[in-house]
Amino acid sequence: MQLIDGKAIADQIKQEIAQEVAEIKARGEKTPHLAVIIVGHDGGSETYVAHKVKSCEQVGFKSTKICFEADITEEQLLAQIDILNKDEDVDGFIVQLPLPKHISEQKVIEAIDYRKDVDGFHPINVGRTSIGLPSFVSATPAGILELLKRYDIDTKGKHCVVIGRSNIVGKPVASLMMQKAYPGDATVTICHSRTANLKEITLQADILIAALGSPKFLKADMVKDGAVIIDVGTTRVPCETSKTGFKLTGDVDFENVAPKCSYITPVPGGVGPMTICSLLKNTLLAGKKAIYK
Ligand code: GUN
Repeated sequence: MQLIDGKAIADQIKQEIAQEVAEIKARGEKTPHLAVIIVGHDGGSETYVAHKVKSCEQVGFKSTKICFEADITEEQLLAQIDILNKDEDVDGFIVQLPLPKHISEQKVIEAIDYRKDVDGFHPINVGRTSIGLPSFVSATPAGILELLKRYDIDTKGKHCVVIGRSNIVGKPVASLMMQKAYPGDATVTICHSRTANLKEITLQADILIAALGSPKFLKADMVKDGAVIIDVGTTRVPCETSKTGFKLTGDVDFENVAPKCSYITPVPGGVGPMTICSLLKNTLLAGKKAIYK
């Protein structure tokens, strides 16, 4: 069994981005600029946004954090999005999700100019990704593919089973794994909470991507010997011995599943660190106008 070290790969990618940013600056060109909007004080969101801002600093990007209280109206948030859409200095921006219930996430996502949508959540980017056109690919799926690539894991003709059908992970990663490309060229099955014969299907998987958000859901008896396991879960489970009072827990029963597989991502330190890299990569592409003019 080989552990897929997402933290090490993410550090390597950040260095590659930092090198490119240094070259951009040396040529006197514009520094890539990411803006992040956060609404309210959700603990998870505040941590993720802090990591995103810090990562921008590490690679030499300019970043702007815009904070709103949870009682901001949808109209006010949409007005801020309009300002960022028109701000020529901002190459890309994201609105951290989830949003308070009185604000429509879909309306917010669709209000973002798709050319600045470095989260890759806008239907234009989702659609372009799914038909294989240049696009901003959403961060977690892009991070998963990058890990498969950097570990030289064979995907062609393999059976890839995705558990979870979210718009952010399950659907896009399934769509990417079936593309005529590497990583990709896999036969893909998507399972979800209504799948009747889940174990029967997961036992056929050469590559298993668990993205359902249920701690330790995937047990050893659901996994074929030698499978590649990608764990996307990041549930905060209460933990008395941890300083923060919780422990990030994946969707895979790691202890019992790991001995059976060829490769596995740990939680934390697997897919998680890669998602920020994907966001940085998209921002770099936005700054270079490499996807859209
Ligand atoms: N909330 C959890 N993951 C993400 C993400 O990738 N982007 C945004 N905007 N919000 C999130």
